[in-house]
Amino acid sequence: MDVYKIRGGKQLQGTVRVSGAKNSAVALIPAAILADSPVTIAGLPEISDVETLQLLVEEIGGKVQVEDGKMTIDPTEIVSMPLPNGNVKKLRASSYMMGALLGKFKHAVIGLPGGCHLGPRPIDQHIKGFEALGAKVTNEHGAIYLRADELRGAKIYLDVVSVGATINIMLAAVMAKGKTVIENAAKEPEIIDVATLLSNMGANIKGAGTNVIRIEGVENLHGTKHTIIPDRIETGTYMIMAAAVGDGITIDNVIPLHVEAITAKLREMGVQIEVREEQIFIPKTEKLDAVDIKTLVYPGFPTDLQQPFCVLSTQAEGSSILTDTIYPARFKQIDELRRMNADGRVEGRSAIIAGPTELQAATVRASDLRAGAALLIAGLIARGETEIQGIEHIERGYSQIISKLQNLGADIQKVEGLTTASISE
Ligand code: EPU
Repeated sequence: MDVYKIRGGKQLQGTVRVSGAKNSAVALIPAAILADSPVTIAGLPEISDVETLQLLVEEIGGKVQVEDGKMTIDPTEIVSMPLPNGNVKKLRASSYMMGALLGKFKHAVIGLPGGCHLGPRPIDQHIKGFEALGAKVTNEHGAIYLRADELRGAKIYLDVVSVGATINIMLAAVMAKGKTVIENAAKEPEIIDVATLLSNMGANIKGAGTNVIRIEGVENLHGTKHTIIPDRIETGTYMIMAAAVGDGITIDNVIPLHVEAITAKLREMGVQIEVREEQIFIPKTEKLDAVDIKTLVYPGFPTDLQQPFCVLSTQAEGSSILTDTIYPARFKQIDELRRMNADGRVEGRSAIIAGPTELQAATVRASDLRAGAALLIAGLIARGETEIQGIEHIERGYSQIISKLQNLGADIQKVEGLTTASISE
């Protein structure tokens, strides 16, 4: 088993460059397979979710080349091979293969997707969208079967604002006959990024980034080149780190508009933030005040940063209440933080954290990606050596995390192949 070892208590300084957005990347790659000639995507993050999707595309006959940080996907020989097991189970975003393969071939077989365990993560709205477009959808032995004679544009009202359903329906609808309208669509920047790629491939999409998306189906989509947007959640993670242990950190390759909710909350806590055109600079923070946070769909405060914010709240004066309205059970970090001396508890869909507390180094386990990010920040704060297990979750979403942190002066290492015996010593 691989672990991270961090000797915390050091102040970090310098510049960190944000990578391409994970949640765009995992949709852009499936989107590319809709084309009839190669698509090149620049700036993809070096994360295991991207590697897994590359394997999935190769499994169905796609040719993928990665060079100089650019991935070229040649979809000309792709077939709608069933993907009932294996790599599809490793990540949530494999569900985008449903929309992409259905859109391209009018049929697909995809195993029910895996991904972080954040409580129930149904895909009923995706299925409702596919059915509205004319697909017959059945669940057989743990795989979703999608079949359509033809896909016809439809008006689809999402009962829940869902990033995944919005993107998946777009993927299925861009080559459907006629007009599709997605109402109550999600507005996340990643949706605009996917719509931009699809439009450059020849799709006709209007309104991405608003809650009504209109799509006029086209016959074919062609290859193009696309540069991915920066990862707003990675940006936010480094902003939180800078507030917790920074002594002057510049975060580079940022779209400040995408992190306004985070900037506002950090300012409320007393953090100084200098917003530049494509950078954010955070000087040393002397004192943090407690805040209440409620996660909401974009442009509200992102659920993906609720867990890292819990750690920052342990350093703030007073009692903070963090409520997750998107994933009410996304609090597995709290037990691990308690091992590190945090004063926190979960009540219903909220974490209540009292501070400030001196975090203590400990051996802890990441249960999911953002819990892992939270533990990293806690390990950087706590004096002594913290060991983080379950780092495969962190590596699903944070590109070059060790070298980025080392460049800021962190004492962190990845230790590979620790045996259970050496762990218990
Ligand atoms: N929902 C339904 N039915 C559906 C789809 C969603 O009830 O058919 C519910 C979910 O259970 C949840 C809410 O709607 O309560 C929002 O879910 P959404 O579909 O928007 O989430 P997702 O597409 O599965 C993406 C990100 C998540 C991020 C959420 C919310 C990707 C690959 N994942 O998931 O990212 O937390 O949106 O913003 O884009 C992460 O990066 O750590 C991560 C988990």
